[in-house]
Amino acid sequence: MKILVTGGSGYIGSHTCIELIKAGYQVVVVDNLCNSSIESLKRIENLYSCKIPFHKQDVRNQEAMRSIFDQYNFDGVIHFAGLKAVGDSVSMPIEYYSSNVGGAIALMEVMKEQNCRALVFSSSATVYGDPHKVPIKEDFPLSVANPYGRSKLVIEDFLRDVFISENSWSIGLLRYFNPVGAHNSGIIGEDPRNTPNNLMPYISQVAIGNLEKLRVFGGDYNTPDGTGVRDYIHVVDLAKGHVKALQVLKNKSQLMTVNLGSGQGYSVLDVIKAFEEASGIKIPYEVVSRRAGDVSTCYADPSYALEILGWSAEYKLNQMCEDSWRWQSMNPNGY
Ligand code: NAD
Ligand code: WQD
Repeated sequence: MKILVTGGSGYIGSHTCIELIKAGYQVVVVDNLCNSSIESLKRIENLYSCKIPFHKQDVRNQEAMRSIFDQYNFDGVIHFAGLKAVGDSVSMPIEYYSSNVGGAIALMEVMKEQNCRALVFSSSATVYGDPHKVPIKEDFPLSVANPYGRSKLVIEDFLRDVFISENSWSIGLLRYFNPVGAHNSGIIGEDPRNTPNNLMPYISQVAIGNLEKLRVFGGDYNTPDGTGVRDYIHVVDLAKGHVKALQVLKNKSQLMTVNLGSGQGYSVLDVIKAFEEASGIKIPYEVVSRRAGDVSTCYADPSYALEILGWSAEYKLNQMCEDSWRWQSMNPNGY
């Protein structure tokens, strides 16, 4: 089976390529490299003695995408390509809507023409906004507070409409919680271009000495220690969830919406402590005011993923920290 992975040289995409290859799929990557390096794929090729055909291309370039589809005759697509920084999306909404919404529409048009009807899409727990309770189930109300989140919700709505119009499509909307960690080889991981926005890469860069100290955003939330609580999920578990989703989508035409989270909530201070234990390095931090747009607590009810995909997260927080640290310490400057 041949799978197109858009955004496949990025953080989650590269780990998913590995799990696809391990499961026997042939993988082709399209990525415009706006937020990643081809080095991730080269390292996978070396590690697994395989070849990953790569096309440096923007998914919005339909002429190029058509010829790539003609060349390979794909059985399905995993669509990771898109922009993901919440803050940037506020200052650059045109770029975010264009790449995310424009990219998804352009891709679906080509898939329709080519009669390729299986799609896994990277959605996000951000579509739940500030949840009225936790754990979060897939049927909770959706609300978004920034252009990034809105772009994900617009794409979800678009894909729901496509499925309603023609139910020969098979579409998986996977809502990721907080992906962290890295491949346990230590040679493939998350490589933010600028100062990281997310907690785990920020802590890792403090530990390696690239950044001075962590600012903990808010110590007055209604949580056990006052800091924000999230559902951290190991990127390898997440990648495995995509392989399961493809298998289920190929068996039966459907639209499924699935939370991919561990079901466990950890506070910022829990993560700092686990990271210190994993690395043996003290993480200096200071509690500052809340970050605009942050919610207090967000974690998944992952029971539907188990039911429909036969998938559940296996890695625990200590392993996520160990693997993040191995990647960061072996690659102090990323790829
Ligand atoms: P990433 O930036 O590492 O990967 C995205 C890849 O897409 C990059 O390699 C980038 O170069 C490529 N890309 C961007 N726009 C493109 C375009 N128009 N055409 C072709 N390639 C393009 O990010 P990631 O963390 O691996 O995220 C993958 C997907 O998962 C994204 O859609 C993101 O919104 C979603 N997601 C990520 C998280 C997270 O916390 N990392 C959480 C929920 C959802
Ligand atoms: C986690 C916790 C922060 C950095 C974001 C996106 C979401 C999804 C995943 C794409 C929070 C705290 C963080 C720091 C801190 N991405 N924190 N100091 O905000 O839950 O989710 O990434 O879809 O859409 O919004 O993740 O890692 O930024 O924050 O105290 O320097 O760590 O306040 O409680 P978040 P995060």
